[in-house]
Formats: sequence, structure tokens, C-alpha cells
Amino acid sequence: MRILLDRQSDASLYQQIYTHFRQGILSGSLPPDTRLPSTRQLARDLGVNRITVETAYGDLEAEGLVASKIGSGTYVLPPSPQLLIPVDEPDGPWPLWQRDLQAQGDLPGKNHLEEAAKSGSHPNPIAFAGGIGDPRLFPVDDYRKVIQAVLRRDGMAALEYGERNGYAPLRATIAHVLASQGITVRPENILVTAGSQQALTLVCQLLLKPGDTILVETPTYAGALDLFRLFHLKIVGIPVDGHGMQVEKLEKILQHQHPKLLYTIPNFHNPTGTCLSTPRRRQLLALADRYNVPILEDDFVGDLRYDGRTQPALKSLDPGGRVIYTSTFSKMLMPGLRVGFLAVEGPVYEGLVNTKRIVDLATSSLHQRAIESYVTVGSYQAHLRRTCQVYRRRRDGMVLAIHRHLPGEVQVDPPQGGLFMWLRLPDSLSTQKLQPLAVEEGVTFTPGHSFFPYSPDGEAYLRLNFAMQPPEAIEEGMRRLGKAIRKAAALPQDHSR
Ligand SMILES: Cc1ncc(COP(=O)(O)O)c(C=O)c1O
Repeated sequence: MRILLDRQSDASLYQQIYTHFRQGILSGSLPPDTRLPSTRQLARDLGVNRITVETAYGDLEAEGLVASKIGSGTYVLPPSPQLLIPVDEPDGPWPLWQRDLQAQGDLPGKNHLEEAAKSGSHPNPIAFAGGIGDPRLFPVDDYRKVIQAVLRRDGMAALEYGERNGYAPLRATIAHVLASQGITVRPENILVTAGSQQALTLVCQLLLKPGDTILVETPTYAGALDLFRLFHLKIVGIPVDGHGMQVEKLEKILQHQHPKLLYTIPNFHNPTGTCLSTPRRRQLLALADRYNVPILEDDFVGDLRYDGRTQPALKSLDPGGRVIYTSTFSKMLMPGLRVGFLAVEGPVYEGLVNTKRIVDLATSSLHQRAIESYVTVGSYQAHLRRTCQVYRRRRDGMVLAIHRHLPGEVQVDPPQGGLFMWLRLPDSLSTQKLQPLAVEEGVTFTPGHSFFPYSPDGEAYLRLNFAMQPPEAIEEGMRRLGKAIRKAAALPQDHSR
């Protein structure tokens, strides 16, 4: 073990050893049950007398921070909470550059969605705030078998960086799957990414610079808004109605704002669940082409359709190079795989591949190979079918439970797929008022303002994830939400909206 000892210091060597371990224990970097090095070993490593180490350990023991077990060694004890050093508290002030960062407000803020998911002290909270499917449906056993088979088959190759643009058979498989959705793209035009969040990041890195204007739907995916803020982009919103982005409002904005990119989620939009109508898709593409604006099409849950007719992807209407398409295995399979992809033609493709190479070298070769096997043998398709059946029932169950338990003035337009239901509260209510009461009742949702570029927009709305919970929890959750809404409505009038 290495401990930096200062032999010129006024503090004795035993004190320095004591302080080192004390700090480690109280800051949590040496958790309870950690075995400290033996006194003989540490004395040898540090070039000090064994008694010096024994004295330091003796003081730690006297303070109740460690206990020695005869014949076994010295172990860290759980420190008393009053002594714990807060994780973000330094010994002295932070260095000037850190304080400047803080003062300039240049640090990215907390994740709204994670904040919304906090469920207070209720013993049995029911969460509708997450952005993923139900982890209980993850095909863990099947995936374990695929990983083992891949390691047996490919050995070391499965653990190398692999091709920069992604594992060739996976790119071919993705191209094949896209073809079945009417998107004709060659494997050479697919770039495998670490989820679609990285796909969005790479596009921003390559195409945009601080101050550039980006057009988004309002509301839109909160993680995209966070990313665009990180890049210091000017975010301009186009409102969404029951048929997706109101494309008829787009031309004026294109004329006046000269955007560098248009980001859209045309299928089962996050958070509203709406789909962009086919005529609007054609109109959008024509306008973007006329004004020379690239479209970034985020198809994050395109395959989770429960009813209604599939509309053509914007990418399938693209004669080539106008639409940058991204999708992911996160929502339709498992988010922890961190595998998504981009599909685009033209010089921008090579630029994106090289940006990806610079940013993180490659996406996990093992997971790419495993997904390729999983899709090729048909397990992915079977998983999708099962998942869609379950989520369809949950969506229907939530709609019924909303009608049963929520006041009639709450408006909802059930989506034809995806994960989310978007609710409008009665006029006198805001989520600001509702959220603490809902947490008290033991139910969480994502407040609408998280999805708008500029607060306080969206206070009238909330997003529910209908896919995450089994039917009984949906029923009980809506009962609790209804109770919280009634309680909020009984509070004095809210003028914040
Ligand atoms: C609309 C949308 N796009 C992209 C992502 C990013 O997903 P991932 O990076 O896991 O593929 C999310 C995640 O919630 C999302 O909702």
C-alpha cells in the first residue's frame, strides 16, 4: 500500500498514517469490513517501524473506526453518521478554477427526470417517472446464453476494439431490419454508437457550434434539451399537437431563425406519445430540403407499436443524405447494453465515424456481437412481440384506470405505441403544486416542464410511463394520483400558470 509520508512534516509518521486511514474511512472510500494491511506489511511498504503502524491502528481503534480480530486482521467499522465527511467537502477551499466554474454557472444541472423519480419516504412508492421499459421483462437468461456463446465462438476477437464504425455483421443485420421498415440503407452507411444519446452527441459535435440554432418539437426529450444546452445552442421550439410537430408553423421559423439542425421524434414522441402524420412528414422533408437544414430523426421506440398504421420513416422518404436517422436497442431491448446506431449517407457519414473514433474509440464489441446473434436467431423479434403484447395491455389498463380514478377534467390522448402517456391537468392546477402531494401519496411522474426548453412552460402537463408497472400497480398508482389531484385542487388557487 502507498501512503505519501512527509518526513519533513511537523506531524509525526504515526499521525500521518492515522490521518490517512481516518479520512478514508470517514469519506467512505474505505467502506465497512475493509481489511487494513497487516502492521508488518504496511511497516515494510512504508519503510517505518512496526510500532509506528501499531500506534496509528491503536488510535483508530480507540476512536471506534476499526476493530482488530485476533488472528484475522484489522477491519473498518461503520463510522457514526456525525463523523462522516460529506462527499463534496474538500479539506480547504476548492481551487480557484473550480470556484470560477461554479460562479459562472457553467456546470450542467441535475437530471430533472432522476429528480422526479425520487419517491420520498412512502413505504411502497409506485413509479411512473422513468424513461425505460419494465426491467422485469429483460431477457436476462437468454442474453447470458448469447454472451457465453459469442465468447466461445469468437474468443479474443469479441474483446478487441473492432471496426470503428461497428461490427460488420451487426451493421448488416441492422440494415436488414431497417429494410423491413422501408428504410433502404447499406451496412456501410450505419455507424454503431453507445446508445442514441451518443448518436445525438456526435451529430451536435460534428455539425454545430455554440450559438447555432437548433429546432426541436416543444415539448421534447429532456435528455436532448440537456445536451443542446451543454453545446450552448439556441433552442427554438415548434409546438406539437395530436398529429406531431405543427409543420405549418415551420416555414416562418426556417426563414427567420436559419437553424443548423432540426431534431425530431416522429414516432411515439417523447413525451407526448404522438406520431407525426404522413402528410406532415412529407411537408417537413420538403421544407428542410428547401431551406437546406439537416434533419435528425430519433426513432427511439419505433418498433413498440400496439395499434394503428405505421407511417413511413422520414429516412425512408429521403432520396439520400438529408435525414440522419438514429435508433437504439435501449427501449426495445435493454438500456444497459448501450448500443444504438446512426444511418446516413454522404460525406457526413465519414465525419461521424471519425468523431466517434476520437470521442470513445469504439462501442463494446462483445455486446455488438451478442446483439447480432440475438437478432439473427429471431430471439429479438420474439422478445419484441411479447413486449408489445404486455405494454399494449398496460396502456389499455392505464387508460381505464385514468378514467376510473382521475377527475374528468384531466385530458389524455392514448398513444398507439411507445412508453408514455401525456396528461393535461385541470386549469387551476400545476405539477409544481401536485408533485409533492403525489410523492406523499406514493406515486411519481415526470412533470411537464422538464420537456420544454424554457421554464415555466409545461406546468399544466405530466408524463406517465405506462410500460414500467404491472396492472395492479397501475390501478393503485392511478388511484393515488387521483387522490393527490383532488388534494391539490382543494388547495388555495394557483396563479403560477
Ligand atoms: C427520445 C429519446 N432519444 C434518445 C434516448 C437515449 O437513449 P439511449 O442512449 O439509451 O439509446 C432517449 C432515452 O430516454 C429518448 O427518450
